[in-house]
Amino acid sequence: MDSKQDMREELHGLVRGLKGHIITEMDSPGRLSNLYMTGKALSEETVGKPVTLEDIRGELGDCQRCPLHQGRNNLVFGEGNPNADVVFVGEAPGGDEDIQGRPFVGRAGQLLTKIIKAMGLTREDVYICNILKCRPPGNRNPRPEEIRACEPFLINQLQTIKPKVICALGTFATHTLLGTNVPISALRGRFHSYQGIKFMPTYHPAYLLRNPGAKKQVWEDVQMIMKALKE
Ligand code: URA
Repeated sequence: MDSKQDMREELHGLVRGLKGHIITEMDSPGRLSNLYMTGKALSEETVGKPVTLEDIRGELGDCQRCPLHQGRNNLVFGEGNPNADVVFVGEAPGGDEDIQGRPFVGRAGQLLTKIIKAMGLTREDVYICNILKCRPPGNRNPRPEEIRACEPFLINQLQTIKPKVICALGTFATHTLLGTNVPISALRGRFHSYQGIKFMPTYHPAYLLRNPGAKKQVWEDVQMIMKALKE
């Protein structure tokens, strides 16, 4: 990867962040943009109290910003350490997550939990969330309008946590956050940048359940994350 490509990705990330600000401001003028204004990523001391994950959850409320609310049992906000050094971002809740209101608690989630343990961490040490907070029917791929409605909240979560590393789980999270369609096989294995945060794409645990041979590559990616966390 050359530095031009890195810069292109960085620029993409910034544009996406800006898009999030604009969409949010258009949808709910004032309040949520205040979250951005007070986010840790911006000059905290000038605007007062830093935003907490509880503030962002409160802002989401009984979200009806896209049609996915009609079929959900529970909104899956995300969970873990609000000061985590590493945030895992998946695609969207599946059936188990929708029932429990917690991210990555089904079969793929159990594998993610094992990966986190292999890193010498627990689920309570890290933060786990998704691109979408509600389950798409039949686990279909998220739609652009659903992402547009949901992404500002994820951006706020990431800005508030300000981790050292973001690990994108799977093609969908990687493409959405990096704003690219380059195959994940060509993106994984090295750090990218998401709004100045080290960003590692790797295969989704559900993919690993179907293709156990790819575990070796995920382990390589995870080892790079572990090294970066020690820096
Ligand atoms: N797959 C995801 O992408 N997210 C979850 O929370 C569960 C399964």
